[in-house]
Amino acid sequence: MAIASWNARFLTGVEIIDRQHETLFETVNTLADAVKLNNESPRVLGYLELLVRLTQEHFTTEEQFLRESGNRQLRSHLEEHRGLDAKLQELRTKHAQGGLVSADVTLFFAEWFAHHINEADMANGVSDWKPAPTPGA
Ligand SMILES: [Fe+2]
Ligand SMILES: [Fe+2]
Repeated sequence: MAIASWNARFLTGVEIIDRQHETLFETVNTLADAVKLNNESPRVLGYLELLVRLTQEHFTTEEQFLRESGNRQLRSHLEEHRGLDAKLQELRTKHAQGGLVSADVTLFFAEWFAHHINEADMANGVSDWKPAPTPGA
């Protein structure tokens, strides 16, 4: 069973953000399945690396929107992002050095994303976010 279940209450109305969020949920689920199957498998490190990369890409996109819309909670929002990023990096380093990812860790990511989307992304003026206009459009 998927530990991170995507549903409509996570929709922000900003298409690129919603797509990224959904992909993050899928990646957490894939990582959790790999951990359950065999947490010593090199696949776990691969999915962890993917989660790190997708999370960083997402935070970059979201932070650009927040800056462009002059969001007043920018600082605290960024702190939450940096906190998760640091945790992911630490976990990736630990795993690369032989430490194993546990089911508790994947559950933590699932809960972090669900909570953050509802409490930070949506509560902090998501409707003000406007993607940068496409050049020539
Ligand atoms: Fe987000
Ligand atoms: Fe966020």
